[in-house]
Order: sequence, then C-alpha cells, then structure tokens
Amino acid sequence: MVIPKHIAIIMDGNGRWAVKRGFSRLIGHREGIKSVEEIIKASNELGISVLTLYAFSTENWARPLTEVKGLFRLLKIFLRKKIKELNKKNVKLKVIGDISKLPEDVIKEIKSSIKETSNNTGLILNIALNYGGRQEIINAINGILKLNIKSVDENTFEKYIYTSGLPSPDLIIRTSGECRISNFLLWQSAYSEFYTTNVLWPDFRKKDLMDAISEYNRRNRRYGGI
Ligand code: IPE
Ligand code: IPE
Ligand code: MG
Repeated sequence: MVIPKHIAIIMDGNGRWAVKRGFSRLIGHREGIKSVEEIIKASNELGISVLTLYAFSTENWARPLTEVKGLFRLLKIFLRKKIKELNKKNVKLKVIGDISKLPEDVIKEIKSSIKETSNNTGLILNIALNYGGRQEIINAINGILKLNIKSVDENTFEKYIYTSGLPSPDLIIRTSGECRISNFLLWQSAYSEFYTTNVLWPDFRKKDLMDAISEYNRRNRRYGGI
C-alpha cells in the first residue's frame, strides 16, 4: 500500500456530533481532540511526512464568541498537555494561517510549542489556524509586491505561501459528509485526491484513516496525462 506523503484533513462535524446527543457544541470540539490525538499517533506510525489539520478558518470568526473562545482554549490545553509527548515522538509542529489575531496567551503557547519541536525530523504536524486559502494567496501577493519585480512564476509564488517548503497534499479528507473545500488549501489542492466520509470528526479513528488511504490507493492520479 502506498502511504501518502501529505494528508490534509477538514475536521468537520463536531457541532452535529454534540447536538445529536443533546450536548453543547463545545463538548463536540472537546471530543474532536481525541480524534486529533489518535490520528496524529496513527500518522506517525504510518510514516506520513505531513499531516495538515484544518482547525479554524478565517470564516469561523462568524461563530458565537463563546464557541470561538472555547476552541482556542481547547487548543491551548491540547498543546500544554501534548507537546512533551509529541516532542519525544520527534513530531515537528508547524502552523499555517494568520495567528496574530488569536488571543495573546494562545499565541505564546503556539510559539513555544513550535520552538520546542523545531529540531525534530519526524512527522510535521501542520495546524491551520485562522487560515483561509484566499487570505493566504493575497498575503503572498502582498509579499511578492515588495520585491519590485515585473512578473512572478509558480516557484516564487510557492515561496510566499504558508506551506512553503512542504509538498502539496496528496490526499484531502473531509468528515461529516460535506463535499466542499471551505477555503482550504486552494492553491495546494490543484492535484490532491479528495475523500469524503459521513463519519463525524469526533468518531473518526485510525480505521477510518486506513479506509481513506485504501481508497487513495485505488485512485489513478494522471495529472492531466493519460
Ligand atoms: C469542527 O466542526 C470544525 C471547526 C470549525 C472546529 P464544526 O464545528 O464545523 O461542526 P458542525 O459542522 O457544526 O457539525
Ligand atoms: C471548515 O469547516 C473549517 C474547519 C474545519 C476548521 P466549517 O464547518 O467551518 O465549514 P462550512 O461552514 O460548513 O463550509
Ligand atoms: Mg462544520
């Protein structure tokens, strides 16, 4: 079986998972962390190079403030609790998106976690936070404009996006049955294989990841050729 180098996941369905059980949406996000932990562990064991997790989009600010605050609190707790273990497992943390808009204490936690794992050479755990594909492209263009050059090629552009230096995702998984990209990795997904499942994110386990990888192995990637 071919193991994709880079898997990106749109972790969706936490809210529905909770509401279905009569819980508040935040309980769904808390449960979703268990899936995050299991999928990081599985990715590490499988020898995946990059795991990108879409945790907060530039559009998610539209949610009630209590939910937004709750999500960032959960992120902080996750990093506090997990970074030592991830460090031991040679996992390197990376973040894509504009984290400057996040609460101060959360930014601090992210920066120290990135620093702590910066010399690691194993799985790159890439978390998309306040990430939007359109914002990323505009941000790159603004960076390139400062170069005072007349034209730009794909290689230069790639240096200015958040994922600079990372391979494009081979496989993009979305849970909860939605079949849309929701502003995720617009540039990088040009030739990614898409996989959607009805499983809600808090129920997503290693077995579900293996199902996605099996399906990936049945795909025939042609990149426009024959
Ligand atoms: C998690 O699922 C995705 C995040 C933005 C954290 P949702 O919170 O979107 O859950 P649903 O789609 O409302 O069920
Ligand atoms: C996409 O999920 C964003 C994340 C998973 C972080 P959403 O639940 O925000 O997407 P829409 O609103 O259904 O498109
Ligand atoms: Mg959703």
